[in-house]
Amino acid sequence: MFKINENFLKLPGSYLFSTIGKKVASFKENNPDKEVISLGIGDVTQPLAPAVIDAMHKAVDEMSKAETFHGYAPDLGYEFLRKAIVENDYRSRGVEIALDEIFISDGAKSDSGNIVDIFSCDNKIAVTDPVYPVYVDSNAMAGKTGDYLPDQERWSNVIYMPCTAENDFVPDLPEEAPDIIYICCPNNPTGTALKKDDLQKWVNYANENKAVIIYDAAYEAYISEEDVPHSIFECDGAKTCAIEMRSFSKNAGFTGTRLGFTVIPKELMCGETSVNSLWARRHGTKFNGAPYIIQRAGEAVYSDEGKAQTREQIAYYMNNAKEIRGALSDMGYDVYGGVNAPYIWLKTPDGMKSWDFFDLLLEKANVVGTPGSGFGPSGEGYFRLTAFGSSENTKKALERIKSL
Ligand code: MLT
Repeated sequence: MFKINENFLKLPGSYLFSTIGKKVASFKENNPDKEVISLGIGDVTQPLAPAVIDAMHKAVDEMSKAETFHGYAPDLGYEFLRKAIVENDYRSRGVEIALDEIFISDGAKSDSGNIVDIFSCDNKIAVTDPVYPVYVDSNAMAGKTGDYLPDQERWSNVIYMPCTAENDFVPDLPEEAPDIIYICCPNNPTGTALKKDDLQKWVNYANENKAVIIYDAAYEAYISEEDVPHSIFECDGAKTCAIEMRSFSKNAGFTGTRLGFTVIPKELMCGETSVNSLWARRHGTKFNGAPYIIQRAGEAVYSDEGKAQTREQIAYYMNNAKEIRGALSDMGYDVYGGVNAPYIWLKTPDGMKSWDFFDLLLEKANVVGTPGSGFGPSGEGYFRLTAFGSSENTKKALERIKSL
């Protein structure tokens, strides 16, 4: 008789954004006359940049002729895209990354979930709390997190590093040394970012403890402050202890188009084994590459027009972030994030539970946000709004919140 992976049965509830989606769908069904505004899931609303669309059209035409048709993509991704990444994301910041240290994928969510494949079940992971749920859930599915303790809303074998207003959302080094450390910077969900010195401490700590940092830099394009690093490889020694994940979803609106990449330096070794070669092996066996058309679209993000157009999109979203921060502060909310990231993290009023505030906002203002406790126990009493809405909807949502 076949057996299932019983680790799945340990997972509490459904994926956070599926739970929210179901709640919103049920509200809409019962209130068909209400216009609901979503500032919940971090999904973009602005169309792809014209330079990206042009590149896609051109690539589609190429696929129509035998001479320019493309079948399977190369294992690591097309060289034209990896070269653009090396040049624009790394060399321009003084970081040298080799072409075969870049693995093109269909997004940072898949990569951050799949990376567990190459690590042993014996590793102990450390996560910031609150945390993007994919890191913990994917480790739980692989049986690496122990048991779920419902009363504590934690896994027994995970090190949680609280990030709250009390520590300015900068995690303290844990007492017990982890093997794998997940850091998302700029952070989803808190919208805050580590300064270079703070990140350097983590890099030093990882090297001293022979730990690996899985660094999710999906929101790097939103950094506006000088001393916030865009890549972990700007820190000394990071190549021997870090893996970096990037996405085209947030910097260029590819949430529906799907494209991302992971950087694994060849210096990252576990004893005699190169982690890069393990991921290459996994990639070759389990993945057939992002489509040619989409990789050409990704390349166009790095063209002069593409850069200018995507910069405008980011400015548009960051203007929403500024509006949300300003309006909520004027209403008396404690507000964080939104300066180096498209997320605004606020304290719920009068110590309300995160899910109670979610219900209040949905029912009375018809606005959807994300309850902080959905990202981990230290998120209780907080709430996340995204700046990815349209400017009109963002303003409308703020008016409605004001009149609560
Ligand atoms: C979020 O809302 O946290 C993001 O959309 C999740 C993601 O990028 O997968």
